[in-house]
Amino acid sequence: MNEKKPFEGLTALVTGASRGIGAETAWTLATRGASVLIHYHSGHEPAAQLVERIRQSGGEAAAISTDLSQSEGIHRLLDWLEERHAAVDILVNNAGSLIQRTRFLEMTEELWNRVFTLNLTSAFLVTQAVLHGMVERKSGVIVNISSVAARFGGGLGAIAYSSAKAALSAMTKGLAREFAPFGIRVNAVSPGTIDTNYHAQFSTPQALEAVAKATPMGRLGNAAEVADVVAFLCSDQARFIQGQVIEVNGGFLMV
Ligand SMILES: NC(=O)c1ccc[n+]([C@@H]2O[C@H](COP(=O)([O-])OP(=O)(O)OC[C@H]3O[C@@H](n4cnc5c(N)ncnc54)[C@H](OP(=O)(O)O)[C@@H]3O)[C@@H](O)[C@H]2O)c1
Repeated sequence: MNEKKPFEGLTALVTGASRGIGAETAWTLATRGASVLIHYHSGHEPAAQLVERIRQSGGEAAAISTDLSQSEGIHRLLDWLEERHAAVDILVNNAGSLIQRTRFLEMTEELWNRVFTLNLTSAFLVTQAVLHGMVERKSGVIVNISSVAARFGGGLGAIAYSSAKAALSAMTKGLAREFAPFGIRVNAVSPGTIDTNYHAQFSTPQALEAVAKATPMGRLGNAAEVADVVAFLCSDQARFIQGQVIEVNGGFLMV
């Protein structure tokens, strides 16, 4: 195996990879040799730039935009994978969002379902789609991006999101049990507060400052610090790690 390119010859699918943690993960896997399938929703420009950057650096990438908060959007992604005959070796279920910070008494069934479709159901269906090939090949790695919110219920207005992420962490463990006999590893990474577009959308500067103060390491994390852990979990170095949810939060929450 090429030590600098441990993922040479492998195909990785990263959802929500136009920016933030997903983009950094796609880039990290690509620089380590993976051919990368980049899924995103609205960030056409950053996604196109990422594809270009990967190709310029000698790597392979292709991108598709679909809305994973809608069933049709999930199925468009699945159809695209099927059309490409994509044999996915590494799947990173990263796409996720609060969609809208909403207090519990104002939460509608429609919004609740959208949050769950995006953060949980999309991971279920995409995982199911790629697992068939992984089972046949008797190898594969899946990393789900959960959240520290799954551990403590999330900030105000995030109950649907934190509940969906908690379910994603539980799904990770169930999958790890069911598919370990087929040579497939499934783990999750649970980021703390990571400085991305997510917080530009959903958090105030004051709230972020308070989190940094409450974090033993005294700062927020960055996307590369999460991507490195995802890449480690995908690598052979993590070959005996199964069904774990790895917290990446600067010590904000120790479990
Ligand atoms: N940042 C944090 O502090 C933090 C903490 C814990 C967990 N997380 C989780 O980490 C993951 C990445 O978050 P991030 O911080 O990197 O956020 P981000 O910078 O906002 O990126 C989110 C990604 O998800 C995609 N996405 C959002 N809504 C979508 C939809 N309806 N359909 C399809 N794709 C959609 C976005 O696509 P477009 O931008 O192209 O629309 C983007 O590529 C998420 O699952 C998030 O819940 C983040």
